[in-house]
Parts: sequence; structure tokens; C-alpha cells
Amino acid sequence: MSPEQIFNCGDLENGALSGFAFCESIPLFSDRMETEFELNLQRRPRRLRRSAGIRNMIQETTLGANDLIAPLFVKEGEGEPEPVESMPGVFRHNLSDLVRECEELLKLGVPAVALFPQVDPSLKNDQASEATQENNLVLRTVRKLKEALPELIVITDVALDPYTTHGHDGLLDESGQIILNDPTVEVLCRMAQQQAESGVDLVAPSDMMDGRVGAMREALDESGFTETGIMAYSAKFASAYYGPFREAVGSAKAAGTPGLDKKTYQLNPANRNEASMEAQLDVLEGADIVMVKPAGPYLDIIRDLRNNTELPIAAYQVSGEYAQIHAAAQLGWLDLEKTRDESLLGIKRAGADMILTYFAKDIAKTL
Ligand code: PBG
Repeated sequence: MSPEQIFNCGDLENGALSGFAFCESIPLFSDRMETEFELNLQRRPRRLRRSAGIRNMIQETTLGANDLIAPLFVKEGEGEPEPVESMPGVFRHNLSDLVRECEELLKLGVPAVALFPQVDPSLKNDQASEATQENNLVLRTVRKLKEALPELIVITDVALDPYTTHGHDGLLDESGQIILNDPTVEVLCRMAQQQAESGVDLVAPSDMMDGRVGAMREALDESGFTETGIMAYSAKFASAYYGPFREAVGSAKAAGTPGLDKKTYQLNPANRNEASMEAQLDVLEGADIVMVKPAGPYLDIIRDLRNNTELPIAAYQVSGEYAQIHAAAQLGWLDLEKTRDESLLGIKRAGADMILTYFAKDIAKTL
């Protein structure tokens, strides 16, 4: 028997369970060379890695389409899908194309989408007034999606950045230097109520203002939306990995000006305890799901939350994590599919129950 035959026997993937008879004939020490040297080992972990069948049997973590949430960008008008330059395969869709995209996702077993609007620059101002307009892009999108695909889980972002000229997630004080907490939360609560009214399953505050989850829960309950859940961006770090996203929704600063600094509200990437504290606050304030973002560089934070809460945990593999895998693959330096799969499995293994990822559709095709 060739080594390939030996190592492939009992391969569960190929339905070759009957290969057990075959297995009996594997020589006990098939890889021994003619040498005197032999370790007297009680434990040989490689025994359980000998064949694909055994490896599958002891696999601890698996990723399913059910674990995935696809972040999607929606734009005004009827135009063609617009590619996001730094995110190969990601497009800003018009409303009808978006419905089609969601239909495909559902068929592939991806149950949920997270919506991000690209707001027309002419509608942006310092007060983010478009954020609470009755008929704004994201509300129209939710209504249309829920009408066309009632079973689709729709998640909407609650933050002001797509609507402010400055791109911050909150309102600024008169000096233009300070992001105001409580006045921002008031607007966020209104946004959450409108999103609930339009039919979303989960509102997802991504702003990192203090007290917003509790205030939002109260606002939703008061207006009768007790069944609308809150997926809280609990540990959202001030990360460089959001760059491509800001290009996609147009919230980045103009070329040549310094990038947006969100350090007065997003977490310091150095702080693990502070991230735990933020998540605890969100749990106490009534979050239904807590989130860590970005995901890949923050696996320890995901694990901390896993060990400290019984709530489901979401992790957001952000735009920059997606972009870096694609960029390396384009250079021929990494294998796109294998790196993608490993990056997502690692996030799941760290303790995430669900993953927001721009790879959702592609990987779902393989699951
Ligand atoms: C802002 C928001 C951001 C992302 C989701 N919501 C970026 C930011 O904080 O500037 C980033 C997602 C990504 O990079 O994929 N509310």
C-alpha cells in the first residue's frame, strides 16, 4: 500500500468509513526507518493525526454558514454595483441589487446581513440630521428587504458617522474638538426606534458612547419594540483596520488631511481589562449580543468575553483584515481560500458564536 492510500483510508470526507477493514492492514509503525533510535513515548499525539478520518473525528471547531453575517453596503439610485477599490469582490449596491444579493446569501445558508449606507454627501451635516429622517436610505432598505425576504435577519448600524460631514460617530461641541456623549445618545435612541419600526431584528450600536445600550433598550421598550434586540459593539477598538470601510461608506477624511482619530470614544488597542469592563457594562445595560471588533488581532478579547459572559458573542472581521488577505493573495504570497478559512476558524475557536465577515458569501459556497 502506498503512503497516500494509508493516509487516506477511513476518510470521512469521502464517505469512506468502510475503509476500516483497510485500516487494519496499516503497519503499526509505517513511517519507521531502519534505525536503532527509538523514543520510549507513552504519548504520541500524532496517532490522532494519521488520517483525514481521524483528524475529522477529533476536530474541535467547525464553521458553518449559520455562523455568518454579511456586512453589505447600499447606495442611492439605480446605478451599477460600484466596486470598493481596497476590498476586492465587495460592492456598493443599489436597492434592487441588494435584495438579489440577500436572496443569494439566504440560499447559501447565510441567515443575516448588517447594513451600511453610503449617504449622499449633500445630505451630510454637522448635526447628522439625515440619520433620523423618516425615509432615509437605510430605513427604505430595511423595509424593502423585510418585505421581499421576511426570514432574513436584518441588522442595522446605530452610529452617526455615515451622516456627519466630519465622519465622527457623534455630535461635536462648539469648539469642534469634543464629541458630546449624552446629546449623541439621544439621537442614537431615536435612530434605533426608527430602525425598529422599519422592521430590523437587531440594532447594532457601533458608536462607543457611554450608556447608549441602556438608553436604547429603554427607548425601544417605551415605544413598544420589546422584541427588537441589541447587538452591542462592546469592545470596539480605535483600529487602523477600518481604513477600507471608511472608503466604502465615504466617511474617511479628504485625501491629504490626517485620518480620523476616534480615540476619545473607541478603545485603546492596548487595553484588555478595559474591554472586559465595557462588555460587562453592555451586558448590565441589556445587550442581547456583545461584539468584539476587529476580530483577528483581538482573539484574546473574544476569549475573555467567552469566559466572562453567557451571552452570545459576535466578532467583526473588519475591512482591513479582509483587505490584507486579498492583497497578499494578489501578490501570490498567500493562498486566498486557505488563509480566509483559517482566519475565520481562528475567530470561531477563540470563542465567537457568529462572525461578521466580507468573506461570508464566498466561504458559504464552500460550506
Ligand atoms: C462606524 C463603523 C466603522 C466600521 C463599522 N461601523 C468604522 C469606524 O469606526 O470608523 C468598520 C467596519 C470595517 O472596517 O469593516 N460606526
